Amino acid sequence: MHSRRLTPLDRLFDQSQRALETVFGAPHAERANPAGDAAEVVLDDTERRHAAGLMRINHVGEVCAQALYCGQAAVARDPATREHLLHAAQEETDHLAWCGDRLRELDSRPSLFNPLWYGGSFAIGVLAGLRGDGWNLGFVVETERQVEAHIDEHLDSLPPADIRSRAILEVMKADEARHADNAEAAGARVLPPPIPSVMAAASKFMKAVAYRL
Ligand SMILES: [Fe+2]
Ligand SMILES: [Fe+2]
Repeated sequence: MHSRRLTPLDRLFDQSQRALETVFGAPHAERANPAGDAAEVVLDDTERRHAAGLMRINHVGEVCAQALYCGQAAVARDPATREHLLHAAQEETDHLAWCGDRLRELDSRPSLFNPLWYGGSFAIGVLAGLRGDGWNLGFVVETERQVEAHIDEHLDSLPPADIRSRAILEVMKADEARHADNAEAAGARVLPPPIPSVMAAASKFMKAVAYRL
């Protein structure tokens, strides 16, 4: 990402800027929005609210992924691992921007608790990172697999007519699967119990809140 050597202060500045941009800014996608010119259909109020709730969950998921990877990258030991994490975070920025676009189209807004989700996920990322790079990558695999699974649920549950949300989720799902495969190939260790179930419980809580707020 950067060719010059960063001091810890540079890194801290970078991190804070990225956090503010993720939570309060308008993140900029590098790839075009997959919804493209797919027709906007008229959803009734219940359908629109449901679609917005699901897209808000996906948006929060991307805020968390961003924070997790930045937290992990901040303490990664091996520069290759750090690069890996920052590259994944860049693709998550596309997801974040697309979900934000869709929320606006659905006349809704991101979660009010995004600063909290970001802070919590960043802290978890730092803790995972401090345990070493194998753990770091193991967290990536587990996170991406869980995200992939909830995207699948959302594809089932979205109003069938909502093809714009669907188009975004299809591309995200493929990206998340690739992120997990790459991390596995880079030497992820399998996380021991109870970590995967604790992560699943945390994301269940997050989903329940983010669907509404
Ligand atoms: Fe993502
Ligand atoms: Fe991902």
